Amino acid sequence: MGIVSLLLLLMVFESTGTSTAQMVPAMFVFGDSLVDVGNNNYLEISLAKANFPHNGIDFPSHRPTGRFSNGKNSADFLAEKLGLPSSPPYLSLVHNKSTNFLAGVSFASGGAGIFNGTAQIFGQSIPMTKQIDYFAAVREEMVEQLGETGAEKVLSTALFAVVIGSNDILGHFSSDSNSSSGSGSGGATTTTAEQMVSSMIVTIEQQLKRIYDLGGRKYAMIGVGAVGCCPTQRARSQTMECNAVANHWATEYNRGLVLVLEQLSSELHGFVYSYFDTYTAFSNFIQNPSNYGFKEVKAACCGLGTLKAQVACLPISSYCSNRSDHVFWDLFHPTEAASRLFVGMAFDGSGQFASPVNLRQLIAA
Ligand SMILES: *[C@@H]1O[C@H](CO)[C@@H](O)[C@H](O)[C@H]1NC(C)=O
Ligand SMILES: *[C@@H]1O[C@H](CO)[C@@H](O)[C@H](O)[C@H]1NC(C)=O
Ligand SMILES: *[C@@H]1O[C@H](CO)[C@@H](O)[C@H](O)[C@H]1NC(C)=O
Ligand SMILES: *[C@@H]1O[C@H](CO)[C@@H](O)[C@H](O)[C@H]1NC(C)=O
Repeated sequence: MGIVSLLLLLMVFESTGTSTAQMVPAMFVFGDSLVDVGNNNYLEISLAKANFPHNGIDFPSHRPTGRFSNGKNSADFLAEKLGLPSSPPYLSLVHNKSTNFLAGVSFASGGAGIFNGTAQIFGQSIPMTKQIDYFAAVREEMVEQLGETGAEKVLSTALFAVVIGSNDILGHFSSDSNSSSGSGSGGATTTTAEQMVSSMIVTIEQQLKRIYDLGGRKYAMIGVGAVGCCPTQRARSQTMECNAVANHWATEYNRGLVLVLEQLSSELHGFVYSYFDTYTAFSNFIQNPSNYGFKEVKAACCGLGTLKAQVACLPISSYCSNRSDHVFWDLFHPTEAASRLFVGMAFDGSGQFASPVNLRQLIAA
């Protein structure tokens, strides 16, 4: 075989997700719309839904699936990297009366936050606490099927992906009043951003401990991105600048999250993680778009009005012709192209993006 055909063969293997050897037995996904693969389709009255056009136009089926994306989202690319099918939405399994949980399940829900109350701002969704309650039910079923030891074995080698926090911060900065309805952390109307972020950090720590107590050991922890640069935040500025205050609190949250992760890994036997610094990755896209194949980093692809961020990506909205050169699909969410890049950086990126190890190293360890 000539070297050229060998290279071509390698490239074919690289590009077909199915040829990747399975790296972990299962992936369990917790989080928000960045990784929702259809749970919210099963919520009766949620406003946070994406099961209508133009979402999904670049998905293999070219149909909306409930993903807030033109195509696949980060959960799909993570699964591909792991050699697994995308973890199915928990509520679709419940709906189908299926207890086939062994290859992983997704609990992620658009609009969800670390705080229970965040869901109310973005329409009905499944808050983190409830997602973990669902996971506890899944674990019980796994114990029925595999016994305690068998279930523990699967869970201790599975990957737990956690993508949460953006909505808690956005919720705080979306309400023009400074009311704490965004934080959901109490009845007071004077929650400052600082208090909210401290409370987020305390709460995510408790939530991670709960997942650990239920058997989770390997974590893909995704930090909050530059939420102040999403089109809806930029569109509020006369000059289309990012909301620097929202970005500041996103980085403060991320800093606290890293400290929590360091703490948990020294405190809890077997707790290991890879933290992905979405904020830095995202800032790189914005500063050097052409390095990543992007031409438009400010405006959404799908929507209407200023930066296409005044009306969401609804069937009445227009959308851009080239989705690969936009970072943002709609007023909040990245395109398939941006999600693919994020996951590539989380998986194989340098310490600038993924620390203390990247996902490939985490899984190999
Ligand atoms: C549930 O059933 C529907 C219709 O039969 C099917 O399309 C869907 O893939 C199933 N979902 C899961 C997670 O098995
Ligand atoms: C969320 O609500 C549940 C009860 O539904 C409660 O047990 C939990 O402590 C709440 N979590 C937060 C972070 O407020
Ligand atoms: C919210 O409160 C902070 C101080 O806690 C203040 O700096 C900020 O301008 C307020 N934002 C709005 C929109 O009122
Ligand atoms: C769309 O954008 C991508 C990334 O910038 C570029 O490689 C591609 O050629 C563009 N496609 C068209 C049809 O312009």
